[in-house]
Amino acid sequence: SPRQPIKLVEVGPRDGLQNEKTPLDAGVKVELIERLVRSGLRDVEAGSFVSPKWMATTPEVLTSPTLAQLRRDYPDLSLPVLVPNARGLSSLTTLLSQHPSNLPLTNEIAVFVAASEGFSRANLNTTIADSLASLPPIFESAKEHGLRVRAYVSVVLGCPFDGRIEPEKVARVAKELLEMKAYEVSLGDTIGVGVPAGWEKLLNECEREGVSVGKLAAHCHDTYGTAISNILHCVSLGIPTVDTSIASLGGCPYSPGATGNVSTEDVLYALYHSGIPSSFFPSPPEAGAGTLLGWQEGEDKQRFERLCEVGEWVSERLGRPNGSSVGRAVRGK
Ligand code: HMG
Ligand code: MG
Repeated sequence: SPRQPIKLVEVGPRDGLQNEKTPLDAGVKVELIERLVRSGLRDVEAGSFVSPKWMATTPEVLTSPTLAQLRRDYPDLSLPVLVPNARGLSSLTTLLSQHPSNLPLTNEIAVFVAASEGFSRANLNTTIADSLASLPPIFESAKEHGLRVRAYVSVVLGCPFDGRIEPEKVARVAKELLEMKAYEVSLGDTIGVGVPAGWEKLLNECEREGVSVGKLAAHCHDTYGTAISNILHCVSLGIPTVDTSIASLGGCPYSPGATGNVSTEDVLYALYHSGIPSSFFPSPPEAGAGTLLGWQEGEDKQRFERLCEVGEWVSERLGRPNGSSVGRAVRGK
């Protein structure tokens, strides 16, 4: 039976840029978001309300006239922002109240919890239990402000501090987040150590705990070269949402050698040529009908090449090589 298209959540402008060495100013971030949206992406993580040491430009980005135009042009656009604590949410809601509109600056926040104590201490300065306990008021306030909540769990398949993570532990955290009414829980293999069998075990454990795979997203990094196989396997097991990052932007500050997030271009290439519909390509050809080089001239090919150009452009702005294998291949062609 035909399945729902896989939803792609583009995390480059937040998770990606927050972990790149070269800071970009708000104007370049706005241009990145605009290029991504106009090339066909509809869920784009736009920034975060965290310590300014990490990311300070989000208010300027969200209130830019360019983003206002994008909201008008694409009514189905979602621009989630990361909020680590009550203070971050109150910065956002203050901004929302200063910009009243029937097209609010955003309709979605993302919160995050770690699956290990070591990562929780390093990244959130707190324990897993305390970070979960801090969330209900944030969910409540988000609801009052008409914001839906996405939740991340990081280091679900391995932690740079604590090593192996028990899948039962991840499943319990995911369950708590869904009980708080997160509409979706994104499972992050933050340091990219996962393999398909490990993901399968984790998803089975989630189902056993009462967490439907249909509520989960796969957030993969490619440190060990397994991200695409993990994603195709997760998709075959029913995961409806995949997080990706243009040009593979990102990294992990606590894990030297960890690569960026899996690239949007690579994931789209693999899904499209496997005949799997996605939010970017709702009607791909039958599986195996062609490869990029043999790709029929036409709108799909043009849209894809335009997206690849965005990856090239942002890599240049960052002064670093394009992290996407497909992006490099398309350029070299
Ligand atoms: P804290 O508990 O206040 O403790 O904040 P702290 O000592 O770490 O605080 C550092 C400074 O941040 C302090 O200022 C705070 O006042 C300030 P200082 O005294 O040094 O001048 N601060 C804030 N400023 C603005 N807005 C706020 C805010 N909160 C604190 N909301 C906290 C702990 C973690 C909140 C803070 O350190 C912070 O904002 N860190 C950024 C962490 C972050 O964004 N990490 C990335 C998260 S996403 C991720 O890890 C993985 C994921 O992408 C998935 C994946 O890739 O697998 C989701
Ligand atoms: Mg990430």
